Amino acid sequence: MWPYPKILAHRGGGTLAPENTLAGFRTGLQFGYRAAEFDVMLTRDEVPILMHDPKRGRTLPGEGAIAAADWDELRELDAGGWLGPAFAGERVCTLEQGLDFCLEHGIWMNVEIKPGAPEQARRTGELAALAVRRRFDGLLAALREKPDAAGAASLPVLSSFSFEALMAAAQAAPDLPRGFLVDVIPADWEQRLRTLGAVALHTSHKNLTPELAGRVKAAGYGLFCYTVNDPARAAEIREWGVDAFCTDRVDLISAHAW
Ligand code: G3P
Ligand code: MG
Repeated sequence: MWPYPKILAHRGGGTLAPENTLAGFRTGLQFGYRAAEFDVMLTRDEVPILMHDPKRGRTLPGEGAIAAADWDELRELDAGGWLGPAFAGERVCTLEQGLDFCLEHGIWMNVEIKPGAPEQARRTGELAALAVRRRFDGLLAALREKPDAAGAASLPVLSSFSFEALMAAAQAAPDLPRGFLVDVIPADWEQRLRTLGAVALHTSHKNLTPELAGRVKAAGYGLFCYTVNDPARAAEIREWGVDAFCTDRVDLISAHAW
């Protein structure tokens, strides 16, 4: 139900490095992480970049929506200085750069599709899925020829809070696995997973209960939690049947704890 890595660095490398940057992935690697979650958003001119906030101001200097800025403007910005002088000058990472880096370093990916504006939902899903699909074309073709469990487990999972974005991703890259992200598990979760052809439910550990976890697992889905930073809490949700989680604290939680 979840053949993928069990413990992932959140937003690239957790909170010890600027989120959604190559510095983040490098930090995860230093702590032994070979799996990461990161967020993908589109610029106005439809360049997929790794970005969490829909607006500048926290991790990027200046103001304004990411969806209203072209890549040429964003590529010049400092995406690391906000966390400390050691990271000053770190650049915004494109999805292409992120995919290349992860493939080169053997980092498994949970690609969170995060539309920065509602009107970009479909395009964000479509373009993110196409970019990932291009990188995995060879493996996808080989898997169609001959199923192979290890190969299938190395495929990235595409996830999103946006049902619309994930539907678009499913159309663009039907063979890539999908996880539906929810903060609170809705009553119709199973119907939604079925419509999306999703393999897993991704949810906040804060709103999960042992009963809900049991239901998701009994229905045959993978169950992924965000964002668990306390080793004791990680042990608790494991008891509930949770398959995997992401963490900000790659220094506190061993990548091999599960
Ligand atoms: O993938 C789960 C997690 O990343 C969702 O929360 O806001 O950190 O993207 P957020
Ligand atoms: Mg995320």
